[in-house]
Amino acid sequence: MAWDPAQYLRFESERARPFHDLVHRIAVEAPARVVDLGCGPGNVTASLLDRWPGATVHGIDSSAEMIDRATALAGPRLTFSRHAIEDWRPDGPVDVIVSNAALQWVPAHPDLFAGWVHALAPKGALAFQVPSNVDGAAPAVFRAVATGPRWVDRLGTVASGSGPSQSGGAVRPTIEYVDHLAGLGCEVDAWETTYFHVLPGTDPVLEWYAGTGLRPYLDALDPADRADFRAEVAAGLREAFPRKDYGTVLPFRRAFVIAYRR
Ligand SMILES: C[S@@+](CC[C@H](N)C(=O)[O-])C[C@H]1O[C@@H](n2cnc3c(N)ncnc32)[C@H](O)[C@@H]1O
Repeated sequence: MAWDPAQYLRFESERARPFHDLVHRIAVEAPARVVDLGCGPGNVTASLLDRWPGATVHGIDSSAEMIDRATALAGPRLTFSRHAIEDWRPDGPVDVIVSNAALQWVPAHPDLFAGWVHALAPKGALAFQVPSNVDGAAPAVFRAVATGPRWVDRLGTVASGSGPSQSGGAVRPTIEYVDHLAGLGCEVDAWETTYFHVLPGTDPVLEWYAGTGLRPYLDALDPADRADFRAEVAAGLREAFPRKDYGTVLPFRRAFVIAYRR
């Protein structure tokens, strides 16, 4: 099952907010070259043109569907290409490397930091945001359903794997990012924020994760079984995130890291 830009963009404003909170803090005055790793549908990438009016911006993503959608936004200062983050190598100095909600899909991402920092121009920045809620209530519901008797044969390995919603999630504790990047000689600015998203509609937490962290489970099932699995997960999520008269509250913790090359 491929990434679905339309499903992902159902919560466009909630998903864009951490990107803007991250980018707002990047203290690089007038970058010439900016790269967005895991740019998705390109909507937030395009906003970088206003943030840095003198910059050219390039977004990469491994999903053909996402890159198709993003390419519709391309222009003289904004380009996109299909690449895996693991394979991306800059062809010259980059002033800002930004990555929003993507590195959790790349288990070996800390091993890539040294190469990226090396590619930065002096005073350039590597800035990323990753969800830091692998031990949160929604991933716990996914794991509980996936390891129950009906699904464990097919989903047990997904539940114990290293994807973003699994117990051995790819996201490292924030302190490890700080240690690692400081050890590479960077000046590091890191913080965590919990957003309390108030989501409208029926089963909005299911719909939220259907575009991201539930995908590895759905991908591992035959289409015929997906509806049953989704229904079981939906029931668990309704208990964990009760609907109130004003909407359903989804607390979501995220980690932000900006590393400046000295
Ligand atoms: C949650 S979306 C974030 C999209 C965008 N950065 C945003 O903030 O809206 C994660 C994106 O990472 C991309 N992705 C996942 N693994 C990747 C990889 N190994 N290489 C490149 N892109 C990847 C997916 O295709 C998806 O578009």
